[in-house]
Amino acid sequence: MEVKLSEKFVKDFVTESDLEDISHEVCLSHKKILDENGEGNDFLGWKNLPVNYDREEFSRIKATAEKIKGMCDVFVVIGIGGSYLGARAAIEFVKGSFYNSLAKDTPEIYFIGNSLSSSALCDLLKICEGKDICVNVISKSGVTTEPAVTFRIFRELLEKKYGKDGARERIVATTDKRRGTLKEFSDKMGYETFVVPDDIGGRYSVLSAVGLLPIAVAGIDIEKMMAGAAKAREAFLFNEDLFTNDCLKYAAYRNVLCRNGKVTEILVTYEPSLQMLCEWWKQLFGESEGKDGKGLLPDSVVFSTDLHSLGQYIQQGQRNLFETVIDIKKSSDTVIIPNDENNTDGLNFLSGKELSYVNNAAMTATLFAHADGDVPNIVIELADRSEYSFGYLVYFFELACAVSGYTLGVNPFNQPGVEAYKKNMFALLGKPGYDEQRELLESRMS
Ligand code: PA5
Repeated sequence: MEVKLSEKFVKDFVTESDLEDISHEVCLSHKKILDENGEGNDFLGWKNLPVNYDREEFSRIKATAEKIKGMCDVFVVIGIGGSYLGARAAIEFVKGSFYNSLAKDTPEIYFIGNSLSSSALCDLLKICEGKDICVNVISKSGVTTEPAVTFRIFRELLEKKYGKDGARERIVATTDKRRGTLKEFSDKMGYETFVVPDDIGGRYSVLSAVGLLPIAVAGIDIEKMMAGAAKAREAFLFNEDLFTNDCLKYAAYRNVLCRNGKVTEILVTYEPSLQMLCEWWKQLFGESEGKDGKGLLPDSVVFSTDLHSLGQYIQQGQRNLFETVIDIKKSSDTVIIPNDENNTDGLNFLSGKELSYVNNAAMTATLFAHADGDVPNIVIELADRSEYSFGYLVYFFELACAVSGYTLGVNPFNQPGVEAYKKNMFALLGKPGYDEQRELLESRMS
């Protein structure tokens, strides 16, 4: 079993009868996904993506990744939100957080266009100095300000460095099949393009070209990743029994805990290389569920480092939270703690032990401590940090999120709230069409 829910540390907080009580609602939510008749049902493309993807495009992704690997030292991925988090999560999950320092046969990969920080941009421009560069600009809508501005700057850089024709060879755009400024511009310039399918929203797009091209450039086997997701689909999509379907059970636990006042969910990892997976998960659940005055607040921690910061809050702060721990069963590397004849640091009780044994003890110790502190813990056991497991886990969370969102009573596939800041920002920046909003803001500021 690639993903297994361990319930020992949640059982004292959610009983079998709580699960039975909510099971009907969860199963109805699941059925909405199977029958494709829930709100937002035109965004269910992720559901069959692992088995029903464009094979021709998939081959082109692999070929383009090979070409990019051969022609640059630095691969710049421009995108925000769902247009970058999944790829970055996958690369760090499989290759580790020090990927760029360790990359030998593959380019360094940097993600930018996810903020409006001049410093972040200038730092990356400095890194690029004297190096060969390729760029993948990713935007489904093709009009998002952060990536659009960043792309303009990198396009100018590439055109100055390689000329218009040379730049064309080094720029790849991932965007809507038909619409949007980026699509029109790319067609005009003759860039290679990949498609963000119409029926897949940004935060569900990691297994489409959005995620797959950067992931393949990092030398990760995207076929194995898709195979993992396909296996999870087989395991969780069609089993309508909550008590034997861990994905439905996870959605059920979250909703019961939320109704009992545990409204913050903290995703916990003991592997720093999963930090970006946590960021991807926060976007998936936060954007899918946080609306209509509802939703659990998704947060995340990396232990054991955060046991020395947020750990205090989790142990003794407001009792409105629960944790979901990702327990990687097999560590990718082995480190043996050496013996020290003098034992000056008093650590000889650990001599000869694997570091993963100590990490595991930290996890078990924390699970007991937090349970004693009235914090329920759901544990998701995952086999390892392979690309297959990543694909598997991604599908598990995507399906759980959709089921959980419907059970909460929201449309898990829209994000109307994201527009509020954009409207104000465009008004303040003087974008044509926003005069009325600008006057409104100015009157509120005076
Ligand atoms: O999940 C989402 O839909 C969003 O986070 C988008 O991915 C994000 O806003 C970027 O949008 P776009 O790809 O259109 O630039």
